[in-house]
Amino acid sequence: MALKVHTIVCGILLLLVLAVLVQSKRSKKGVGGNALPHDKFVVAGYLPEYRFYIDVSEASSHLTDLILFSIAPEHDGSLQYFISEDNLRAARKAKHDNPGLRTIVSVGGGGRSKYFNSVASDGHLRQKFVNELLDLCVKWRIDGVDFDWESPMNQHQISAYIRLLHEAHAKLVPKGLLISVALHPGQTLGKEGFLSVDRVHLMTYDMSFQKGSGHHADYGNFKQAIQQILGQGQLPPEKLIVGIPAYGRHEKKLAQVKSYSEIVDEKVKEAGMVDVDVPVVEKLDPNFISRNQHNQFLFDCQLSAQRKTSYAKSMGLGGVFIWEVGQDKFEPKVSLTEAVMMVGNGTRVMTKAELASVYDPAGIGEQQYRPPLTAHDLGSAKDRRRKKREEQKRGKMHMEL
Ligand SMILES: *[C@@H]1O[C@H](CO)[C@@H](O)[C@H](O)[C@H]1NC(C)=O
Repeated sequence: MALKVHTIVCGILLLLVLAVLVQSKRSKKGVGGNALPHDKFVVAGYLPEYRFYIDVSEASSHLTDLILFSIAPEHDGSLQYFISEDNLRAARKAKHDNPGLRTIVSVGGGGRSKYFNSVASDGHLRQKFVNELLDLCVKWRIDGVDFDWESPMNQHQISAYIRLLHEAHAKLVPKGLLISVALHPGQTLGKEGFLSVDRVHLMTYDMSFQKGSGHHADYGNFKQAIQQILGQGQLPPEKLIVGIPAYGRHEKKLAQVKSYSEIVDEKVKEAGMVDVDVPVVEKLDPNFISRNQHNQFLFDCQLSAQRKTSYAKSMGLGGVFIWEVGQDKFEPKVSLTEAVMMVGNGTRVMTKAELASVYDPAGIGEQQYRPPLTAHDLGSAKDRRRKKREEQKRGKMHMEL
């Protein structure tokens, strides 16, 4: 009898605990509807406004987060829209079509960060800016804001950025919204800055600008960039989301880019198989999944993208993101996003042999990597000029993609 009562009491307690757990998960749902929980490995995808001609719902079907790129701060703290109302409607529909999908709006970006400094440096403008962001999220049921000031140039600007992130966090997070920040490898916001964000999106691509040639998203450089930011001991690994490009760059002429989709189309054409009734995957050389080089363009193939995702998982990171999903080839067994998500959600676990079978173009390795400038290096005028040139080049190139 005593045992029975004990069992019943235990059962009731267990139910209570479960109810509280369910409730706390529910109460975390924000104005966007889907902001939390954070416990699932993130596979996010950026989508710039010039790419919304694709089927956004389809492009989101292998994602946990769709990031709309972008809006920018205006000089008076209001929002300048690059994405249109039609884009926002398409994103809302994608969320409806893919239950659980979070949508996030990106603020800034290369070439779109002109007024960040004036807004972040002024208390009144910061407040106005953050309020407008909140209104935008409420109106369109968006789940978070991704800040992408490219880039603060000195310690004063970094401090202003941290104040902006801190105030955005204080205002938006209680509403169940998510705050992230996009950083280049080598950049840091310090412990204080990282406390004000839920996630850091580390842009681990275009890394060859620092060396003049080679794979712009080389695996060795990718790992090194991750180890560098974690090595500072200020960013918890679960907050780190790392970038995988869906485009390649010419191994020498870095300004030349090709999307993953263009590369796949070229391969199909070269194979001479144009029959529309044959699935794309059957028209391709079976090695296509493990070759990350094509006609001197270096990119991430399915296996190299999966290897990066496996590495992110093994390091306990929060997830990966793709720049940008509009460049993917949305065909079964060909899609890069699908391949990444299969590792992300645990459907596919890579064997050691598979990890080793990715073709790595010769002569590219960690030893050539020169990390970009960090906040500590921002001292000299020469460094600042170099940094500015790099930013302009990056911004211009992104716009050309
Ligand atoms: C994992 O992701 C793949 C690709 O999106 C999907 O086909 C599969 O259904 C997912 N599996 C689970 C268990 O979520």
